[in-house]
Amino acid sequence: MLNDKKVSYSGIQPSGNLTIGNYLGALKNFSEYSEKYKTFYCVVDEHAITVRQVPAELRKRTYETLALYLACGLDPEQNCLYVQSHVPAHAELAWILNCYTMFGELSRMTQFKDKSAKHANNVNAGLFTYPVLMAADILLYQTDVVPVGIDQKQHVELARDIAVRFNGVYSDTFTVPEPIISKTGKKIMSLAEPTKKMSKSDENANAVVYILDDKDTVIRKFKRAVTDSDTEIKYAEGKDGINNLMTIYSCFTGKEFDEIEREFAGKGYGEFKLAVGETCADCLAPVREEFNRLLKDKAYLETVMKNGAAEAAYYANKTLSKVRRKVGFVNL
Ligand code: TRP
Repeated sequence: MLNDKKVSYSGIQPSGNLTIGNYLGALKNFSEYSEKYKTFYCVVDEHAITVRQVPAELRKRTYETLALYLACGLDPEQNCLYVQSHVPAHAELAWILNCYTMFGELSRMTQFKDKSAKHANNVNAGLFTYPVLMAADILLYQTDVVPVGIDQKQHVELARDIAVRFNGVYSDTFTVPEPIISKTGKKIMSLAEPTKKMSKSDENANAVVYILDDKDTVIRKFKRAVTDSDTEIKYAEGKDGINNLMTIYSCFTGKEFDEIEREFAGKGYGEFKLAVGETCADCLAPVREEFNRLLKDKAYLETVMKNGAAEAAYYANKTLSKVRRKVGFVNL
């Protein structure tokens, strides 16, 4: 809790290539959170360097990610938006928490296993302790809830375990956070292989719709979406492609499945795919326009970063000084 409001904390990797899965499952709904919660959204540039980055690209993507948050409707007056490396308390607390996290626990993290297989020539210590830095992000702000995709649930559970352990040794210090797993975010599937989750790193460009794709690209990708040999637009087992398109259409329009079935009764797959593509493109257009406008205004983005970092540091330093005292560091 901060100022009588529960705290929601979320981090996002600096990547310009977010998909409509990220949009529908997370970004689109974020602006509603600020009514109920004190919200923090962090661009996690320190997490990004656990795999090799081109420095100029990382810098550019950091601006882009912030611009995307703003373009998706997050008002910087209502939400604390900032960049992780601007608040040194993250790295400091991460070191301390490293000493309260077990080798065995980190070895069990499935993302570590996946990433170390994928980047076999660079299995660095940061990749291994990545979840500890994430725990530091979360615990610095006395976070109650962490909205994440299902793939991050294990990391949030580790943050809980670390918090409980630390509190047990030193008395209550950290709020124990809960993950909030978005219902739709995990359901947006690849357009090419609709049994697989839509992933920003898919090699097949037609499988993924990016938030920043232009109208023609969006429509072309939906036109090529894999469906089945049936003809009916109906949500049913075995119709993974159509189910996925119906989910996407439903998320963008708010229409229920039975409504969509009635709307497209007697119509063909081609017509349906076009409708989904057009709806998606129309919903994304204002986001893309605002993103492009913001990117041209670096001074504004930097003002948001500065204000966000100052606010974040204020709360983070409160927790950090408590932690320093409890573990026995000398305060000057
Ligand atoms: N690890 C998260 C991801 O890859 C990003 C992240 C970093 C995060 N710190 C966080 C998410 C804190 C939620 C809370 O998606």
